[in-house]
Amino acid sequence: MPRQRVVLLIGLPASGKSTFVAGKKGVLSSDALRATLRDDETDQSIHVHVFRFLRELLKTRLQLGAPETFIDATNLTRAFRRPFIRIGRRAGASVHAAFFDTPLEECLRRNTLRERVVPATAIEAMSSRMQPPAFDEGFDGITAIATTGERTTRRRPVSA
Ligand SMILES: Nc1ncnc2c1ncn2[C@@H]1O[C@H](COP(=O)(O)OP(=O)(O)O)[C@@H](O)[C@H]1O
Ligand SMILES: [Mg+2]
Repeated sequence: MPRQRVVLLIGLPASGKSTFVAGKKGVLSSDALRATLRDDETDQSIHVHVFRFLRELLKTRLQLGAPETFIDATNLTRAFRRPFIRIGRRAGASVHAAFFDTPLEECLRRNTLRERVVPATAIEAMSSRMQPPAFDEGFDGITAIATTGERTTRRRPVSA
């Protein structure tokens, strides 16, 4: 069996994460789980439950041999990403970051065009908390996905 893969999508709201994984297999989405648990994908008050289930679903998918799992959430901070990276690495999977480094202004613009508009102030606050992915977190590969769709992939340095 080829090595299992875990891909953490990382990006502000409206940066293009869900569009990128649309139609792909193995997507675990925090918004979808909010809807499952609460009939409302905007309810941020159930955060703890949503992320507990995301972690459990990832663990179980890996145990069951899922070839690839995408975590579709903002995943903005290192602290937030750490448990997902640990679960992937413990299972022997390779763990990748897909970084949607869409400029804040473009996220704000796309956000206003959406059905479900996130308050602009919330996106601005997230932008200031955002920590770009780095190899010392345990990623095997980091791919930056530009607004144009252009991708630049870096592999874990041999020394790291
Ligand atoms: N590369 C792109 N260029 C222009 N618009 C995009 C692009 N990717 C996504 N969008 C649009 O931006 C909005 C937000 O995209 P979405 O994938 O839902 O973001 P996220 O899941 O990161 O919140 C959607 O209306 C989508 O159609
Ligand atoms: Mg989304």
